[in-house]
Amino acid sequence: MSATPKKKFTVPMMAERMAAGIPMSMVTAYDSTFASIVDEAGVDMILVGDSVATVMQGQKTTLGVSMDHMEYHVHMVASVKPHALIVGDMPFGSYQTSVEDAVKNAVRLIKAGAEIVKLEGGVHAADRIAAIANADIPVMGHIGLTPQSYHRMGGNKVQGRTSGESAGTRERLLEDAHAVDRAGASAMVIEGVPSSLAAEITQKVSCPTIGIGAGASCSGQVLVMHDLLGLSSRSFTFTKAYANLRSAALSAVSEYVDEVRNKTWPDADHSFD
Ligand code: KIV
Repeated sequence: MSATPKKKFTVPMMAERMAAGIPMSMVTAYDSTFASIVDEAGVDMILVGDSVATVMQGQKTTLGVSMDHMEYHVHMVASVKPHALIVGDMPFGSYQTSVEDAVKNAVRLIKAGAEIVKLEGGVHAADRIAAIANADIPVMGHIGLTPQSYHRMGGNKVQGRTSGESAGTRERLLEDAHAVDRAGASAMVIEGVPSSLAAEITQKVSCPTIGIGAGASCSGQVLVMHDLLGLSSRSFTFTKAYANLRSAALSAVSEYVDEVRNKTWPDADHSFD
């Protein structure tokens, strides 16, 4: 467990940490129980991610999550008043439709308790990022493998491995990174790109970069909590299970089922006279 004294992690501290060369940690959480655990463990940022769709709602993609869902989960995480910065993810459809919708829905997430909003996209999302930032709401960009582009990418595939001008090429991702940076993002997630490209982006942009499947050169790292804890049945090259809570939970629940069946639960110590 972290021994660092707790201090609220704020948006300006992201740039300070980047300047100091101390990598930042971000982990997803979607409810108060897990938000309090990751906060107590000392993470700098809690991402209320739209990955809630795949890890909590059982969906194949993140596309079905609504603003109402995201507000609900941000609200639960904010209820524990974490020291970590609360990052609220803007779901598919909440900012693609218009700049006005982007600002309106960013305001909703901030009212629900987010302290910065995250949205996916590069060059094409720059006007949304600028408008939200101009409304005085900090924005975290997200480039590379952007799960909301699932259908365009033909699945969640590593980006930036090819050269050219079309979406997902190395050159285009560099343009995306510059566009997000220039639009006024306070940080950007780089997901699923070769480490060398993430290192180049990190060196060239002014804001901090937070990597997932993007190597060790970023200003920080992010993992989905269910992957980190070994809670999900899925595993990817770019995730690491630091525990195997799925198997611990399975054996605990199986033991309970057995004890109920063989009438050893509840025992006298857990019953009233
Ligand atoms: O929703 C999410 O969990 C994310 C991370 C994978 C960065 O966007």
